Amino acid sequence: MFSHTDFDGHEHVVHAFDSASGLKAIIAIHSTALGPAFGGCRMWPYADDGAALSDALRLSRAMTAKCAIVGVPCGGGKSVIIGDPATHKSAELLRAMGRLVNSLGGRYVIADDVGTTLDDLAVMRSQTPHTAAATASAMQPVPVTAHGVFSALQAAAAHVFGTDGIKGLTVAVQGLGNVGGPLCAYLSGHGAHLVVSDLDPRRVDAAVRQHGASAVAADAIYDVNADIFAPCALGGVLSATTVPRLAVRLVCGGANAQLDTPADAERMAARGIVYVPDYLVSAGGVIDFHQERIDDRPEATLAAVEVIGRITGEVLAQSRGSGERPLAICDAIVRQRIGTKA
Ligand code: NAI
Repeated sequence: MFSHTDFDGHEHVVHAFDSASGLKAIIAIHSTALGPAFGGCRMWPYADDGAALSDALRLSRAMTAKCAIVGVPCGGGKSVIIGDPATHKSAELLRAMGRLVNSLGGRYVIADDVGTTLDDLAVMRSQTPHTAAATASAMQPVPVTAHGVFSALQAAAAHVFGTDGIKGLTVAVQGLGNVGGPLCAYLSGHGAHLVVSDLDPRRVDAAVRQHGASAVAADAIYDVNADIFAPCALGGVLSATTVPRLAVRLVCGGANAQLDTPADAERMAARGIVYVPDYLVSAGGVIDFHQERIDDRPEATLAAVEVIGRITGEVLAQSRGSGERPLAICDAIVRQRIGTKA
């Protein structure tokens, strides 16, 4: 564990097995320096246990960064359940997961993620109070995340193109799910031109019909001649292979863990492409979680999420002044807030 490539001073990593339900789970708490660790529970048929551990370590670290950069008083955590949600999930297994979360006494607060739903959280909640969406009126994090991405895009567009908003700019959106779908509505509603891709042709058709988007094949999105690339599908999409193909001046999207390696941020900078760090752009979910506790009215939550645009503007202005990369600036803010030196 301690020599694992994704280990980054994580405070606590729990591996658990429940024979009655078949639960195999890992909970990674990266940091509780700012508050209880918060993060989703991903259920996935990982190829092996090592892949599951890597995901938990990487994603919990990103949660620490998300909370710290937008000033939410929480730490970073993530849990993974090894198994196919379609065939392996049961109420018994979810209750066992709830008991596991409860055993950490509130140091980790669980939310939904890929492979788990709010209904699953409700089952876990029968065993533990330490779950997100604790109130019936809580907004789903999903439109909130897209709202945050849009607010980052507006601020970054103003900085890079000198425009007042997104009107007239062309945005290539990769992935039209819970984040990319509503993002397209925001963008087209504010006068942007859209070029879209998704593996699901129904989602592509919907974007073409509803927003007048142009569609390209999944792999062709990297070659689109556009102003902005907004990755909203999987992680690792900015790589040594894709970055040289990009024909945009700004990359700003909601997908988690977009960089294949840290060197890909440098690759973009060397090509004059401004990259807004993914963990800042996609921090709407952690703000939503915090708002659940202080004021969960939808209008209050959407207003709170706009802090992402404000921080984006400040970071890009600092970057212009100092020549430092936006990612380096954000990483330094995170380290300073959680009190680490590395
Ligand atoms: P989703 O599963 O609803 O949608 C993802 C979409 O991407 C699907 O339509 C899928 O077909 C498509 N896709 C997958 N591979 C693709 C490829 N190679 N090319 C084009 N499209 C592809 O997922 P969701 O919730 O929209 O999340 C998207 C990203 O945003 C993920 O990286 C997620 O971790 C991140 N994120 C999501 C949050 C949320 O509130 N849902 C919060 C923060 C980050």
